[in-house]
Amino acid sequence: MLELKDIATSYGGARAISDMSFRVEHGEALAMLGRNGAGKTTTLKTIMGLLSSILGTVVFEGADITRQTPDHIAQLGIGYVPEDRRVFSGLTVSENLEAARKPSPKGQTTWTATKLLELFPEIARRENSMAGTLSGGEQQMLSIARAMMGNPSLLLLDEPSEGLAPVVVNRLGDALSALQEQGVSMVISEQNQRLARRVANRVILIDTGSPAFTGLFSDFDQDPSIAQRHLGV
Ligand SMILES: Nc1ncnc2c1ncn2[C@@H]1O[C@H](COP(=O)(O)OP(=O)(O)OP(=O)(O)O)[C@@H](O)[C@H]1O
Ligand SMILES: [Mg+2]
Repeated sequence: MLELKDIATSYGGARAISDMSFRVEHGEALAMLGRNGAGKTTTLKTIMGLLSSILGTVVFEGADITRQTPDHIAQLGIGYVPEDRRVFSGLTVSENLEAARKPSPKGQTTWTATKLLELFPEIARRENSMAGTLSGGEQQMLSIARAMMGNPSLLLLDEPSEGLAPVVVNRLGDALSALQEQGVSMVISEQNQRLARRVANRVILIDTGSPAFTGLFSDFDQDPSIAQRHLGV
């Protein structure tokens, strides 16, 4: 459903990623691992049309989406959960969800606020609270629920576990697994391998802006030197 072909993205002349190629199939979740500064966020922002200096091609559902606007890309069915969990802190949980409501590309509404609040009972309890008063974990759940209000077929998640307690990360894993069971495809950037492995069975390892390994976690695990070399673990 998604294919990156030889993508190179720069910030003001400085190359951040290059030779970036990978595919995500329908219903699949791909984990993206890499050290700080490896290029995970840049790759996700490039897919989402948030960066301007891009070479190569991004194809989504057969259409070239390279250099399309973020709005258009979202309309085609890609949801984005940025690393800074953007929620409207002065709006309630319900209002945040309503403000994010968009029909899917084919016009059908698979996800409603009611359905998403069932998936995230933690934020259902806070339905009428201002989003700014939520805990980090609750804000992350709200951020994911907001992305789902756009009825995406592919969800891009940028380090959703960052700064969250292990018990909250477990809950996040439950919710992401439930979304997957409903057929949502994902690219999940993570430093938390436990969450990455729970959600995805294939992995792309990024080192200094380029893919160093792409394949099944089972193959990744066959050669511990890959993680040693490119993740420093
Ligand atoms: N706005 C920017 N302007 C200039 N350089 C940037 C900018 N954002 C990122 N970079 C550079 O691009 C490279 C890739 O950064 P990126 O944020 O994509 O990495 P990351 O894998 O998401 O790291 P982290 O795990 O810390 O989130 C780094 O060298 C970084 O310094
Ligand atoms: Mg990042």
